[in-house]
Amino acid sequence: RGSLAERILATVRDVEDFPQPGVTFKDITPVLADGELLAEAVQAHADPYRGRVDLVAGLEARGFIFGAAVAMELGVGFLPVRKAGKLPGPTVGVDYALEYGSARVEVHAQDLPDGARVLVVDDVLATGGTAAAGCRLIELCGGSVVAVEVLTEIAALDGRTLLEGYAVRSLATV
Ligand code: PRP
Ligand code: MG
Repeated sequence: RGSLAERILATVRDVEDFPQPGVTFKDITPVLADGELLAEAVQAHADPYRGRVDLVAGLEARGFIFGAAVAMELGVGFLPVRKAGKLPGPTVGVDYALEYGSARVEVHAQDLPDGARVLVVDDVLATGGTAAAGCRLIELCGGSVVAVEVLTEIAALDGRTLLEGYAVRSLATV
């Protein structure tokens, strides 16, 4: 029985050419399906932050799954950072560049108390664009980002460069 990182890496499934040719998709659904591993991952995400955060922000969509579980583990609330147009509003949003085109994330700022200490959670850190936009959005709404927690980090894509200045932790690095 290996370390948590080894077991996560052995369980995350690589899917070639999804969603586009040439892209290898990191599918975390097998981690969700493994109750023991899921519980351990959620606990590991939460452990460093007990008593240190007021809110967990999860990045749509897969960050909702881990983020909500981490929020419950920490006994704090959950803030969904949604893709554009999903929240009824009023919303605050941040636009960011993708490899091709652009995207926008939004929150209900009224659900983020001024000065709240926020833990940002997602499943995968790739280029860092999604997480960086989430962090900027939290700050735009008056929150402070305590750290960014991801299940898996793709080191070759160097997402940490876009997240300079933030504490970034991954449970497993590819
Ligand atoms: C994936 C993943 C991260 C993001 C990482 O989400 O869940 O959120 O990409 O990529 P980046 O570091 O290059 O921004 P995706 O947008 O595919 O959507 P989903 O979570 O809604 O499935
Ligand atoms: Mg995502």
